[in-house]
Amino acid sequence: TERTLALIKPDGVRRGLTGEIVRRIEAKGYTLVRLELREATPELLAEHYEEHHGKPFYEPLVEFMLSGPVVAMVLEGERCIEGFRSLAGATDPTAAAPGTIRGDLGRDWGLKVQQNLVHGSDAPETAEREIGIWFPER
Ligand code: GTP
Ligand code: MG
Repeated sequence: TERTLALIKPDGVRRGLTGEIVRRIEAKGYTLVRLELREATPELLAEHYEEHHGKPFYEPLVEFMLSGPVVAMVLEGERCIEGFRSLAGATDPTAAAPGTIRGDLGRDWGLKVQQNLVHGSDAPETAEREIGIWFPER
């Protein structure tokens, strides 16, 4: 079985959607191996978003991720990396399909960065890397 790092971003926590998002993860059958309300730090985010350094949305993205607590989770289940991204839906909440977290609950706020409620690792190597960043004791 596989593990992935999932985050409920500050917009999801602020809007009181933590329960709804966790409900969808559990209903899908993924196991919550870790779940913590956390404050990100600039150092942690620099590692987490390493691939986005230098992109135009990088600074606003980090600022957004520091705007409030996030829920950091490690999920476990068969093909949960692909499966959680499928639950999350497309990056742009307007384009995300109905039935997905972003499609059902996200909206376009007309801001510099997409506030799209959740993050999910996108490949086995990034999942291991990101789990190590958020839960270094593992
Ligand atoms: P994550 O699960 O959060 O990693 O989303 P993703 O894999 O669907 O997107 P990606 O890793 O490409 O980008 C990380 C985050 O940066 C996104 O979730 C958005 O919040 C933001 N972002 C990415 N691309 C854009 C963009 O083109 N414009 C804007 N405004 N924000 C973006
Ligand atoms: Mg990504």
